[in-house]
Amino acid sequence: MLGHQRTPPLRGPGLRAFSGTVLFTSRGLAEYRAMFTLDDADLTGSLLDCCAGAASLVAEASVQGGRAVAVDPFYAQGTATVRDALRDSLRGGQQLIEDHEEQFVWDWYGDRATRDAMRAEAAAVFLEDLSGAPQRYVAAELPRLPFADGAFDLAVCSHLLFTWARRLDCAWHLKALRELARVAREVRVFPLVRAGDGSPTPFLTELLDELGGLGLTAEVVGVEYEFQRGGNQMLRLLPS
Ligand SMILES: C[S@@+](CC[C@H](N)C(=O)[O-])C[C@H]1O[C@@H](n2cnc3c(N)ncnc32)[C@H](O)[C@@H]1O
Repeated sequence: MLGHQRTPPLRGPGLRAFSGTVLFTSRGLAEYRAMFTLDDADLTGSLLDCCAGAASLVAEASVQGGRAVAVDPFYAQGTATVRDALRDSLRGGQQLIEDHEEQFVWDWYGDRATRDAMRAEAAAVFLEDLSGAPQRYVAAELPRLPFADGAFDLAVCSHLLFTWARRLDCAWHLKALRELARVAREVRVFPLVRAGDGSPTPFLTELLDELGGLGLTAEVVGVEYEFQRGGNQMLRLLPS
């Protein structure tokens, strides 16, 4: 499907950098709709979620008739490890919020119980789909993806690029964005602030200039979702 192939087990910089327990997160369709202003047409086309983690977007888009594929290097670890990491991540995420309460805003979720229930529900939907339709879950990692040029209508990327800009530099981001723009006709990335203190990405302007020079139109678009304080914008990439 969509011209992808399995890749060998991954030991790239992304996986090494993100082996902590709170990072294999499970956002659901409602969160993805809000982070990326997705509409029904986006969900029924060919859709790539990279880095998908334990998000349920692909499972839920598939139910709606979309041809959706999830990419994450962690899938190479096998289902049992994924299940354990997810359980730890759900707990770790709650703890992280308790420890850094000032960094989060609750307008979108309303309260902690709603947020926790949404993450748990998305995790359950993801795990069921991972077992039932493993062909939708591809172990691969940016900045190289095992898909043909233009294989997808839309690629979305939540909480990897920009989020980890302390560890992944401007050159890496440029390579990753070029690769996403190679395999998809449109790319959306959220959020544009860094993990931790939510500070803006220092090299965003430089990166936008570089992308423009590569024949891509890059625009920063405000979205309705905000959880990490200041994280309420996405990057949208289209061919010029
Ligand atoms: C914070 S999670 C986000 C998961 C999901 N997108 C969400 O919003 O809930 C970040 C994910 O990026 C994955 N990851 C790390 N390095 C990567 C890379 N180079 N390419 C693709 N995914 C990567 C991790 O395994 C992890 O599952």
